[in-house]
Amino acid sequence: MKSFIHNIPKAELHLHIEGSLEPEMMFELAERNQVELPYRSVDEIRAAYQFENLQSFLDVYYVGSSVLQTEQDFYDLTWAYLQRAAAQQVRHTEIFFDPQSHTDRGIPFETVYSGIYRALQAGTELGVSAYPILCFLRHLSAESAMETLEQALPYKDTIRAVGLDSSELGHPPSKFRQVFDKAREAGFLTVAHAGEEGPPEYIWEAIQLLGVSRIDHGVRCIEDPKLVDYLIEHQIPLTVCPLSNIKLCVFDAMTNHNLKQLLDLGLCITVNSDDPAYFGGYVGENFQEIQSSLHLSNRDIYQLAKNSFTATLLSDEEKRSLILELDEFMAHTAV
Ligand code: ADE
Ligand code: ZN
Repeated sequence: MKSFIHNIPKAELHLHIEGSLEPEMMFELAERNQVELPYRSVDEIRAAYQFENLQSFLDVYYVGSSVLQTEQDFYDLTWAYLQRAAAQQVRHTEIFFDPQSHTDRGIPFETVYSGIYRALQAGTELGVSAYPILCFLRHLSAESAMETLEQALPYKDTIRAVGLDSSELGHPPSKFRQVFDKAREAGFLTVAHAGEEGPPEYIWEAIQLLGVSRIDHGVRCIEDPKLVDYLIEHQIPLTVCPLSNIKLCVFDAMTNHNLKQLLDLGLCITVNSDDPAYFGGYVGENFQEIQSSLHLSNRDIYQLAKNSFTATLLSDEEKRSLILELDEFMAHTAV
């Protein structure tokens, strides 16, 4: 099972590039850019990664992100992630970046985006295709999100979608309705974090007001049977992040995670890593952990991998070709 999970072709659709900053690179960049960190060693950083909820994580995460300053830093960060993804047989990835975490510190949008985009282009050498997704920080104002959207317009041909992340509670999707209207008019697809800590109403709002193609997290949909029916009927994918959900106390134990329940109900569920450097694993480790805790079968793993391709923002033809590769892998694998 371990090697089956490792080798199966897959996509990753919920990955914050700033959340892939490993403590070793955090230290290196802090030195390179003369940024003071509140930690003296890599071990001390890892020891600080104990979270009670989303906010307690975000406080640590924004401090970590402050070491990122130059175009080369963003390139190095993105390249390191792509290498890990390729090694775990990720064929396609859709990567969130948070421009406001950087522009608010005086780093130009262009510096952030150019570094990430240059690495994504180089990623094709590794056999990984990638789309960037710009996320607005929902704890900041709608005006700030609108300014960020304006800054992104010159890059709209390569940024596939806009999304919504950061502190969910108290910041419903409705706060960003106009920004998302404008983003869709400009040709961006949309996604949003909803139903991680927030209630099912936030998932409804993301669908009805923001026109999202998929929901990031979404695990609290289970509290609203009508919503569950809607998600099944319209096959709106959920990008579920098992290790993140445990680290941020969304579930008290992996054995109590509702991923299998949602999968069995017929929702388009995918497995993702969210912020792998902070939560103890990349997409492969997320598959391994959820498989062993919920006793997922080979068939379940195949369905999750297939869903990961179906749920991408690629064209139907590109999706078909990835699913064909997956089916060929299955045909040649003794399971
Ligand atoms: N930013 C990075 N990780 C996040 C998460 N899990 N939820 C909301 N915002 C985030
Ligand atoms: Zn996330």
